[in-house]
Amino acid sequence: MYKVKGAVKPPDRSRGDAELREIAFQRIVALMSMETVIVDALGEKGIREMVAAFYRRVPNDDLIGPMYPSDDWEGSEERLADFLLFRFGVSDEYTHKRGHPRLRMRHMPFSIGEAERDRWLQLMGEAMTEVGLEGEAHETLKAFFAQVADFMRNRAD
Ligand code: HEM
Repeated sequence: MYKVKGAVKPPDRSRGDAELREIAFQRIVALMSMETVIVDALGEKGIREMVAAFYRRVPNDDLIGPMYPSDDWEGSEERLADFLLFRFGVSDEYTHKRGHPRLRMRHMPFSIGEAERDRWLQLMGEAMTEVGLEGEAHETLKAFFAQVADFMRNRAD
């Protein structure tokens, strides 16, 4: 998710500068609108409530619950909320506390296959419903989570 495919390629000289600037601009607009639609719908409060709803479910989950440190639920909740607020451009708390996200690397200690990915997404889906997220913001956030969760897979099933 952090590596933009093609970002290190040299510029395509067959395209004019104006066309390249337009493509870059459109990409930035697309990224900004994803963040804006989510932040407008939930706000910082809603994002924190959604993460709290997620972490009310995780400890009781037979598959992914045991992966988390059982003595630091508050810490886990804070790290995920801070990360999302950072990712959606609301605050820099996450990077101040944790540095570069490197999410895939940070998930390497855990065995994550399709079942774990799907369970994580199921619990987060329930959390999104609990906070009343719907419409475009719901679809956008759901797609974001699905993409990141799939990227976290580190076990060939
Ligand atoms: C695919 C299924 C996933 C599983 C099984 C999983 C599991 C875990 C576990 C066990 C931890 C360590 C406990 C902690 O530090 O809180 C963790 C940390 C974390 N996860 Fe996940 N996770 C998954 C997907 C995701 C997704 C989709 C995101 C983001 C959208 C995410 C974001 C984070 C963050 C931000 C941390 C804390 C990283 C740090 O600063 O140390 N995880 N995850």
